[in-house]
Amino acid sequence: MTVQSTTHTSTNGSDEVRFPPGFGWGMATASYQIEGAVAEDGRTPSIWDTFSRVPGAVMNGDTGDVACEHYHRMPDDVALLADLGATTYRFSVAWPRVRPDAGPVNAAGLGFYDRLVDELLARDIAPWLTLYHWDLPQVLEDAGGWTNRDTVEKFVEYAISVHEALGDRVPTWTTLNEPWCSAFLGYSAGHHAPGRQEGAAGLVAGHHLMLAHGLAVRELRSRGADRLGISLNLTVPDPSDPADPVDVDAARRIDGLHNRFFLDPIFRGAYPADVLEDTADLTWQGSPWHDVVRDDDLATIATPIDVLGVNYYHGNEVSGHPRTDVVGIGADHPDRVSLSPFVGSEHVTFPSRGLPVTDMGWEIQPDGLYRLLRRLHDDYPHLPIHLTETGAAFDDRVGADGRVHDPDRIAFLDSYLRAVHRAIEEGVDVRGFFQWSFCDNFEWAFGYAKRFGLVHVDYATQRRTPKSSAHWYAEVARTGVLPA
Ligand code: NOJ
Repeated sequence: MTVQSTTHTSTNGSDEVRFPPGFGWGMATASYQIEGAVAEDGRTPSIWDTFSRVPGAVMNGDTGDVACEHYHRMPDDVALLADLGATTYRFSVAWPRVRPDAGPVNAAGLGFYDRLVDELLARDIAPWLTLYHWDLPQVLEDAGGWTNRDTVEKFVEYAISVHEALGDRVPTWTTLNEPWCSAFLGYSAGHHAPGRQEGAAGLVAGHHLMLAHGLAVRELRSRGADRLGISLNLTVPDPSDPADPVDVDAARRIDGLHNRFFLDPIFRGAYPADVLEDTADLTWQGSPWHDVVRDDDLATIATPIDVLGVNYYHGNEVSGHPRTDVVGIGADHPDRVSLSPFVGSEHVTFPSRGLPVTDMGWEIQPDGLYRLLRRLHDDYPHLPIHLTETGAAFDDRVGADGRVHDPDRIAFLDSYLRAVHRAIEEGVDVRGFFQWSFCDNFEWAFGYAKRFGLVHVDYATQRRTPKSSAHWYAEVARTGVLPA
């Protein structure tokens, strides 16, 4: 079914952008980024506990030890979510709480999510659960992590235990969040935990992550789950000069690794031929990396899903020539570093288009979101799509009046929501939108230096202050209409 939306002229004569009734207005978070309490109730270390202690790995030496203390403030945070009009809330479960050291189920750890789900339901907020948002138990990494096929079975065991406890109350289940980051930032670029810089390990990890996704979908489906999906971070690569074959080829390579390496096995049951060709010389433990793909793996990965989660922040102009006018933060921009082992060109760069950028150095590019949604609609089977993440970091501060004014975030959200609306009008089945993030939190390698929240967090006092964007978003969620 395609949801209908309308643009109509309001009584004061201005054009109004109205979303369909039932459209999901959500906010998203992830366990390690907000919970803190890393050693409580039986939780054991994840790869992020370890990685954040490596000198230089995370800006300012920040860790998730305390984060937003959400583990202890959860009921108040859920009350705030409700006050801010969220109709759905996307959170992730910490594997090392539920199965510490990847061992038996820990009732105390699971109990936290049990209470969270009940609290959400009591406030009419639909829970949207992500099983894996990057906090792999460290013991599994010690045995090879996602490059070890055994991790796949461990993930499925963990997924089943969460589903047994919460399957009666959680309608929507996301297996993985952004496997591109887990695989390539974690195992090739080393920019994310576990910090490995092993080239082909990213491809091997990527395959095992996808296999874990497919097997978990199959298992949870057999146990009655009927809204299952995955969140992919997709991008829109535009060649700098569409008439220059070098730039066109660079953009194709980015598209292959970032988008089609994940979309094609899920929806077409095959890795893209051009990516296999580009990476044919990369070896893993003495053999072509692709030897880790066994006979039925692709059929498993292609197990049908019910909903596609799209995380989109920005696309990029892509050049295959050396350029210095690039976007991103500093020379270690994660995208560039992680892709360099594979792209077959040492000169894949992301030149600036002169667009405004967020505090991450990411271009603000709503038309990329529109084009991405159209492309998914045109090239892949039609599934309900939810924007499971978009948002912007800005250097937000509490003003003398005690408020946080963030007009740039309002403008960002307005423009991205207009892009979604345009796609819906053209028949793309987008059912909901999750703003990243509910509150400021631990932004991975950037620690607490980057603020993505609708709610400001003062880390010294844990005081929460909804920013002006939070009030703006609450009104949009309440009315389903973007102010003209
Ligand atoms: C991607 C991730 O899913 C989330 O954890 C991260 O904080 C945001 N995008 C912003 O980078």
